[in-house]
Amino acid sequence: MSGQLDDAGKLKHLLTLEGMPRSVLEALLKRADALATHAHGGNGMRGVLHGKAVCTLFFEASTRTRCSFSLAAQRLGADLLNFDASTASTTKGETDVDTLKTLEAMGVHGFIVRHKMDGAVAALARAALPGTVLINAGDGRSNHPTQGLLDMLTLQQAKGPDFSAMKVLIVGDVKHSRVARSDLHALHALRTGEVRVCGPASLLPGGDTLRGCMVGDDLDAMLDGVDAVMMLRLQRERMVEGLITSLEDYHRDFGLTKARLQHAAPDAIVMHPGPMNRGIEITDDVADGPQSRVLQQVANGVAVRMAVLETLLG
Ligand code: CP
Repeated sequence: MSGQLDDAGKLKHLLTLEGMPRSVLEALLKRADALATHAHGGNGMRGVLHGKAVCTLFFEASTRTRCSFSLAAQRLGADLLNFDASTASTTKGETDVDTLKTLEAMGVHGFIVRHKMDGAVAALARAALPGTVLINAGDGRSNHPTQGLLDMLTLQQAKGPDFSAMKVLIVGDVKHSRVARSDLHALHALRTGEVRVCGPASLLPGGDTLRGCMVGDDLDAMLDGVDAVMMLRLQRERMVEGLITSLEDYHRDFGLTKARLQHAAPDAIVMHPGPMNRGIEITDDVADGPQSRVLQQVANGVAVRMAVLETLLG
């Protein structure tokens, strides 16, 4: 197992949504929803992490996750350190574990870690002192649990709490997407009525990842009647050559356009974790259109990350 629950079934780290009990997931979503008003200002929550030191330890680029975790930690009153791998002693060869140990020795209680290697955050959790908290802010193509949580909160706000009544479609580069994996873990845990996945065969993962999903490569057909469309970024930085024939072909077959969106339910919402490749997986008029919830997802990121920090460190 992931090692993120203690013997009493309480979260001690947040490493993955895979295997997370539904009750734990629902409790985090409920708390995030309640915190949404505090996520955008005010001083009412600043006592929660007073005296606790939290570090964003990012070995890979980020805008949304890093900034929203930083804001969330500040709104809860934590002392916040931002570690920048490009200017740190990792550039002199210091290992990830030595970096963690060094910051732990300074009294850091919580680490929010992004890493390009699958399993890197879980490995740091195993190396940490008892009581130190590790939060996975995205590792390789494996997990992005807080993105999964904020996506579920966004779905719930738009469609109500009954996931069994929802048809949700995930489109694009699932193979390289930690967001898709965390979304799939959460959608299954919440017993979503129908989960569909659409993409070129070269960008769909094998193994058990798509178990329980309806899978296809005809986007118009897969869009039929869905309540939510979750578009994925084409992750060119993680791709080997030849997985797609060209960006033009990809856009023609798997890009979400205003015309295509007509196949979905009339009140369907459109989501994208960002950053978006505009004109490739999504057109401007859809990304900025009335059905888009892209900026709502970003806003929910602060509330979800406050709930996670409060639960683990408060
Ligand atoms: N969605 C997401 O993880 O975005 P960032 O890479 O900007 O954090």
